[in-house]
Amino acid sequence: MKIVGISGSPNREGSNNHMIERSLDIAKQRGFDREKITLANANISPCTDCHVCRTQNSCPIDDDMAGINSSLESADGIIVSSPVYFGSPPGQLKMLFDRTLPLRRNGFLLKDKVGGALAVGASRNGGQEYTLLAIHAWMHIHGMIVVGDNSHFGGITQKAADTDEEGMKTVEDTVNKLCDTLDRLAAR
Ligand SMILES: Cc1cc2nc3c(=O)[nH]c(=O)nc-3n(C[C@H](O)[C@H](O)[C@H](O)COP(=O)(O)O)c2cc1C
Repeated sequence: MKIVGISGSPNREGSNNHMIERSLDIAKQRGFDREKITLANANISPCTDCHVCRTQNSCPIDDDMAGINSSLESADGIIVSSPVYFGSPPGQLKMLFDRTLPLRRNGFLLKDKVGGALAVGASRNGGQEYTLLAIHAWMHIHGMIVVGDNSHFGGITQKAADTDEEGMKTVEDTVNKLCDTLDRLAAR
């Protein structure tokens, strides 16, 4: 089984990268295949609501989203890590979310994948919870199974994440919950 981690920050070596690297380390220890997607080097244009994906399982925009959608389709679990920008996810991540519409319109291809969300802000209470809920909304609208950290909504840290021990524990708890859920589903 495979877990895909998305780092939703334009910064290659920032807090989101740290949170996703830690998440994928845990996934590896727990025996899962892993794939990392980072928005630091992704070329993603916005959805133009052209309606093509209503009738064809494709998108006419030629950028990195075809590969990202195929990675998401191949995943059993998806972890999304987002920076908080003005209290919500950044435009870059929202563009990725919007461009997954072909997966929904062509048979709900993310349905029943297990999802977990992580968020980091410069402030302690800078909008991380709202950012997690925005990610959860994307997951629910795809019919995914959403997990938290076994206590609250998911992984929340304050920048710099690698120095926020308490926050990183919520990241680890979220990833372990996601792995536990995949193991339980596989056992049935
Ligand atoms: C445009 C912009 C808006 C931001 N708004 C917030 C905010 O509302 N709350 C907050 O706590 N941090 C805010 N920040 C700080 C970022 O959340 C923080 O730098 C980021 O999460 C660090 O992640 P990274 O190192 O992976 O890029 C903002 C940063 C930028 C660039």
